[in-house]
Amino acid sequence: MTDGFAWWQQGVIYQVYPRSFQDTDGDGIGDLRGILARLDHLVDLGVDAVWISPIFPSPMADFGYDVSDYTGIHPAFGTLDDFDALVAAAHGRGLKVILDYVPNHTSDQHPWFVESRSSRGNPRRDWYVWRDPKPNGGPPTNWLSEFGGSAWEWDAATGQYYYHAYLKEQPDLNWRNPAVRAALLDVLRFWFERGVDGFRVDAIHQLIEDEHLRDNPPNPDWRPGMPPSRSVSRIHTMDQPEVHEAIAAMRRVAGEYGPDRLTIGEAYLPIDRLMAYYGADLTGFHLPFNFHLISSAWNAESIAALIARYEAALPPGGWPNWVLGNHDRSRVASRIGPAQARVAAMLLLTLRGTPTIYQGEEIGMADVPIPPDLVQDPWEKNVPGLGLGRDPVRTPMPWDTGPNAGFTAGRPWLPLGADHLTRNVAVQAADQRSMLALHKALIALRRSEPALAVGTYALLEATDDVLVYERRHAGRSVRVALNLGNRPQPAAGTPGLGRILLSTHLDRAGEAVDGAVVLRPDEGLVIGA
Ligand code: GLC
Ligand code: MG
Repeated sequence: MTDGFAWWQQGVIYQVYPRSFQDTDGDGIGDLRGILARLDHLVDLGVDAVWISPIFPSPMADFGYDVSDYTGIHPAFGTLDDFDALVAAAHGRGLKVILDYVPNHTSDQHPWFVESRSSRGNPRRDWYVWRDPKPNGGPPTNWLSEFGGSAWEWDAATGQYYYHAYLKEQPDLNWRNPAVRAALLDVLRFWFERGVDGFRVDAIHQLIEDEHLRDNPPNPDWRPGMPPSRSVSRIHTMDQPEVHEAIAAMRRVAGEYGPDRLTIGEAYLPIDRLMAYYGADLTGFHLPFNFHLISSAWNAESIAALIARYEAALPPGGWPNWVLGNHDRSRVASRIGPAQARVAAMLLLTLRGTPTIYQGEEIGMADVPIPPDLVQDPWEKNVPGLGLGRDPVRTPMPWDTGPNAGFTAGRPWLPLGADHLTRNVAVQAADQRSMLALHKALIALRRSEPALAVGTYALLEATDDVLVYERRHAGRSVRVALNLGNRPQPAAGTPGLGRILLSTHLDRAGEAVDGAVVLRPDEGLVIGA
């Protein structure tokens, strides 16, 4: 650990999608005991924290992002005792535990919503966003659900519509109501008391909508094939100014438990808008997730420009972070190919800022095609055929060459990738040049080189397929040279003698380089003095 930096600044975060990590009871769905059983994989990998996607009671309309009880555990995942055991075991291994917090909406089965919809006069009516129909009986605005169709659902019994940014089974809470705020902030306290180290806050940019119910304008850039929800610009439903007050309240609750409790916000926003999520004087999220690598063109100029724009936009003292994928987005190995996925891993783990690794990236998992009869994701069911479904990136983790790749003794809820006999943790653990070995080496290097963990960033070269940058801390300089193409490339870099600390091919460490170096196809190098 480098003095003066928090654990979450120098650490690496690993996202577990619990349904697909490890099953222990044969129901084909991963569980908390499964995560506990696999903690040693995370220790081996060298990460510092595990973020677990939702594990709370839920009808699973959106696989846990529709919470029906914020302070319990879904029986498929286990019990509160299992949870306590997991936290104790993780902490015993020096791993932090981060939970998912879904404040924007509940399940329609949550007792709060059941009460809210029971009558207009119910005390919880105003806990959700209920509005009268237009005079013609239609929905109050043209707002669209992220998952297809109108964002308003008609409730015949009480003669009003309720708003849902996502599924109709995920009614939006009314964060303008102080009682809602208080109840949701208490949820954070409940889990902080149980020892969790932080939260990833779901869909935060959707938290509050325009009070005046203005229609969203049409989006001139929308084309058929894009998500239907993007046919309007979401200027009145997303990223509203009032959200920052709510985030600051969440941050204050984290602060009640000490300076080390982490808050991460999920907001897909342009860089300039994203920066506001650090809050005035850093009173917002410690880390507003930076998803821009996921959508960046994969070439040196684009990536260098992205890094420059992001670094320049950070507020004073704001700590950067980087993400290559998650349970909602196509996997990096599918986006840019397996060879470049190794270069991407080096980029992620040598950039300035906290990296988050999505489960399976460390073994180079790719998107798994899901036959229509096995589709689970409600988005794919509502808006089929556009490739919006997220099942391909949520398939079970392949652990070994045993039945169902060691994931389950039952029938997995989603199919395993066809390559699971050759691409799994056990096979790669035995292969000194595997993607897994590369991840371990990168994380170990990041840990042993403060320049990589916390050092400054400076661009040295971004031409053709070559990206070179320097990280520097306390007088020590480390250079990273990445070949983003599949032809050999000279990298000029900085003059002076250096030594290769790591190649993405895992076969060149120790080699001396004098100024320029030739990168092999799809090769990245970390070079030290
Ligand atoms: C977030 C989650 C996604 C979920 C949505 C609604 O974007 O990451 O999986 O469907 O919010 O909760
Ligand atoms: Mg299970």
